[in-house]
Amino acid sequence: MRRKLVVANWKMHGSLAQNQQLLDSFKAHLANLKHVDVAICVPYPYLQQAQSTLSGTPIAWGAQNVGKYPVGAYTGEVAASMLKDFGATYVILGHSERSTAYCESAENVAAKFVTAKNAGLTPVLCVGETLQEREAGVMEHVVSEQLDPIIALHGAGIFKNAVISYEPIWAIGTGLSATPEQAQSMHEFIREKIARLDPEAAMSVRIIYGGSVNPLNASKLAAMQDIDGGLIGRCSLNADEFEQICFAAENAAIKH
Ligand code: PGA
Repeated sequence: MRRKLVVANWKMHGSLAQNQQLLDSFKAHLANLKHVDVAICVPYPYLQQAQSTLSGTPIAWGAQNVGKYPVGAYTGEVAASMLKDFGATYVILGHSERSTAYCESAENVAAKFVTAKNAGLTPVLCVGETLQEREAGVMEHVVSEQLDPIIALHGAGIFKNAVISYEPIWAIGTGLSATPEQAQSMHEFIREKIARLDPEAAMSVRIIYGGSVNPLNASKLAAMQDIDGGLIGRCSLNADEFEQICFAAENAAIKH
């Protein structure tokens, strides 16, 4: 059975002082969850702070991007091995904010996915459609095409024990979440696509949902069969809201 996973995506927010308050609260309130894995993905400079605060707790930490090459003359990039040096276990890849604002291509994301996996990190691959694509009814086609470069590079088996986050772009930061049924339907589509190629990978890949998850909608989303947790942006910057979302996932896991 897949364990639920709740990932905080702090994006480009935080300071040493603000982070410390959040991390201390998470440490105090989330360390006893039995059925949910929690990971906090921080901006690079705060990896050491996450490591020193969360070491020895069940709460994991990670980054929001990684360089596609293992080492070398790549100004401004950060290697997977460097993330490992700071105890990171997760890395968010292919977030739509990176493809829209930084022209990150699906092929680039595919290379990073394989680099992260080879380094022993757990990639959290973001996929999702725009509002126009949903209205045109082509959302499954769009998401499928986002998965294809990774499958082409390394086969569907690469998704074994990885994480895919379905993040409809229209739901990110807008307060307008996908309904549990819309999200479930896409998660099922993703799992079936992988299952046709590698049933074992399809069983183990955790497909989490991101896009305006909050304490009010978290329970219903987490209760859906193929929704294995959430990727949380705005509400991960509020200790109480993030913790409520983690407890909603815990309760959903107990009921399953
Ligand atoms: P949001 O962000 O929860 O603020 O919508 C989610 C994300 O971008 O990962």
